Amino acid sequence: MKVATAPPNKFLQTLAGAVQEIPPIWLMRQAGRYLPEYRQIRATAPTFLDFCYSPKLATEATLQPIRRFGFDAAIVFSDILVVPDALGQEVGFESGEGPRLKPIESRADFSALRDSLDLGRLEPVFETLGRVRASLPDEVALIGFCGAPWTVASYMIAGRGTPDQAPARLFAYRNPALFQELIALLIEASADYLIRQLRAGAQAVQIFDSWSGVLPVAELERWCLAPLRAIIAKVRTQTPNAPIIAFPRGVGASLTNFAALDGVAAIGLDTTVAPDWAAAALPSHLTLQGNLDPLALMAGGKGLEEGVDRILTGFSGRPHIFNLGHGILPETPISHVEQLISQVRGAR
Ligand code: CP3
Repeated sequence: MKVATAPPNKFLQTLAGAVQEIPPIWLMRQAGRYLPEYRQIRATAPTFLDFCYSPKLATEATLQPIRRFGFDAAIVFSDILVVPDALGQEVGFESGEGPRLKPIESRADFSALRDSLDLGRLEPVFETLGRVRASLPDEVALIGFCGAPWTVASYMIAGRGTPDQAPARLFAYRNPALFQELIALLIEASADYLIRQLRAGAQAVQIFDSWSGVLPVAELERWCLAPLRAIIAKVRTQTPNAPIIAFPRGVGASLTNFAALDGVAAIGLDTTVAPDWAAAALPSHLTLQGNLDPLALMAGGKGLEEGVDRILTGFSGRPHIFNLGHGILPETPISHVEQLISQVRGAR
């Protein structure tokens, strides 16, 4: 007989569909440069990847925002680009400038990649998850993550961040068969990576499709929806009860297609989505996460207060996880994060 156990914390209860009077809250990119204690430990590692692959430093960075703000969930400190790194691509981070990869421009570049993820290289991330889970109280959930295949592929092809990921879009139009092979590789790698994170201590996972919004709607099925469906199917064969959060940024009305995917527990909404539209257009059992504008948080004051109120009102009565609509910005004052949390928790 299958015995159902109640999820141990508010975040997981909400992912399971519970409606809370006060929503659980965490923030995308909640660890990182806006925190002085992060900048301090970051300076002790030669490169950003060294930092990500140090269980000691990554554990500390994951716990810092929990200690300071008491969020309802921690997200393991890592990056979406550890997947290309563990597929054998050269990945680095220029300080202040973002990621630099050796771009994939040809079949030869693609063939030089491994044909599956080097899980040994990612062992430090799994160790970090175990350490973090062991030091968190039951009330705080632990989230693992990966980038969606389209978003990760867009960095693998351009070799860097670009305003509109044009290099990957051009590549996919010019060379759809090869691009499909890259996406297929990333589907398997991402699923394997998520399964291992869940086994190591993650209680839920989020799939970041930060660049889905640059695709024409007609391309979304092939490069975003189908890969997500395949990842979820594979993850569910190994870890059937793990809640999965999809964050397809910038897809507008196509959110209904993401919401309809079997096995998605929650949808992360970007800043452009109106809460009342989402509440009406997306199935009522589905948990919605979001979606304060990170710039409203950075600005503070009345704009922040009004933005928070609109979100609390717009999602009231349905399962909702309070979050930003994209990652917190490094310039964000800590006092604004404190103001946000006390407003959400009702201690204005
Ligand atoms: O706190 C957390 O959310 C966990 C850690 C986390 C990082 N990156 C740490 C990081 C997470 C979840 C990510 C996800 C990520 N990484 C995404 C998807 C989310 C999004 O913001 O759209 C993307 C596209 C990346 C790729 C990436 N990594 C870029 C474009 C950059 C440079 C720009 C930037 O924000 O700095 C990074 C570097 C990075 N990843 C930093 C951190 C803390 C800064 C590097 C440093 O501290 O030296």
